[in-house]
Amino acid sequence: MHKHISLLPGDGVGKEVMESAEAVLQAVGTEFGHTFTTEERAIGGEAVDHYDTPLPEATIQASEQADALLLGAVGGPKWDGVSAAKRPEKGLLGIRKAMGLFANLRPVKWFPALQSASPLKESVIAGSDVLIIRELTGGLYFGEPRGRNGQGDAVVDTLSYQRAEMERIVDKAFQSAHMRRGHVTSVDKANVLESSRMWREVVEAKSKDYPDVEVEHMLVDAAAMALITQPNQFDVLVTENMFGDILSDEASVLTGSLGMLPSASIRSDGFGLYEPVHGSAPDIAGQGSVNPLGMILSVALMLRHSFQMTEEASAVEQAVQETLNHGYHTADLPQENGQLMDTEHMTAAVIDYLTAKSVSDSICRM
Ligand code: NAD
Ligand code: IPM
Ligand code: MN
Repeated sequence: MHKHISLLPGDGVGKEVMESAEAVLQAVGTEFGHTFTTEERAIGGEAVDHYDTPLPEATIQASEQADALLLGAVGGPKWDGVSAAKRPEKGLLGIRKAMGLFANLRPVKWFPALQSASPLKESVIAGSDVLIIRELTGGLYFGEPRGRNGQGDAVVDTLSYQRAEMERIVDKAFQSAHMRRGHVTSVDKANVLESSRMWREVVEAKSKDYPDVEVEHMLVDAAAMALITQPNQFDVLVTENMFGDILSDEASVLTGSLGMLPSASIRSDGFGLYEPVHGSAPDIAGQGSVNPLGMILSVALMLRHSFQMTEEASAVEQAVQETLNHGYHTADLPQENGQLMDTEHMTAAVIDYLTAKSVSDSICRM
């Protein structure tokens, strides 16, 4: 199979983890007989520096031509003072909106090998496997009006949703739960927000179409606590844009590091942008020490969700697991008896296990 992928490395460690993604992608191509062609496009602060906008038209056009998009991360202190329209983050929000990527899937899975890297007790997190589904193109991030008044002493942001926007993300959550363990936790703030009360109505109505899926409503403040006191009670957690942003960083402690979390931002036809959940990590950028696994696991999500390459996706995920099982880790994942690796060697280890795995698989099939 041939697939063409637009690479949007962005800023800071985004560039470093993108190199890892490319190496893993080419290894998958060689192992499984696929051709992956790639082209790099500018987004974020880098695009502001070169094209005076965080999302150049050429990046959108290339994205429309591609079979899928991979993104590193955007932002950094260098651009903290620029106008709202030129903030690097505006590029990321813009590409999600321009491509209609309303469903953000953020799987958070406990890795036994990383137990000592998590601040939570093994008895609390063992076996946790949560799929956070975050609405990505509505809510506070995009609502109008927004901004300051003329005097600059009053400000407004708007949390707005159309019912149809709620319906499509809630439907995605039920579909996912139907294929997983049959449980949806819908997270809102219905004791305060009108938008949350409508969200609950939508969830209740949609649940009638999925009688095999159990639904629970949870207020976001209580959910923030439950995620780290009883993470095992969650299967699919669905929520609006900003709650999902906050809860997914919180949930990353289950894995020991934000650097472990992948994400898929998709629309109904399966087209998607795949990116790690973490940001440009300015505090460690340029050191070659960033954990590439969130990005590499995002490549696996791309193979599975956009290309239906199930076996290939599982092979990448298994290679990541093997790498961790053998004690290899980056600096964000302290391990007692492990082997500390830089980004390049961690990536090489994953590729080694990926290659060996495929070899032994093909021997088994013979
Ligand atoms: P961050 O996610 O960049 O970093 C938070 C902390 O986690 C830092 O200490 C960082 O070193 C660490 N970390 C993150 N990813 C890591 C990895 N893969 N390996 C090892 N350590 C890792 O969040 P921040 O510092 O709040 O934001 C920095 C910039 O990134 C801001 O400009 C923000 O807007 C942007 N950001 C971008 C994205 C994105 O592009 N998707 C996501 C979040 C934040
Ligand atoms: C994320 C990030 C982005 C978001 C920022 C950088 C705009 O935090 O992808 O989680 O809030 O969506
Ligand atoms: Mn975030």
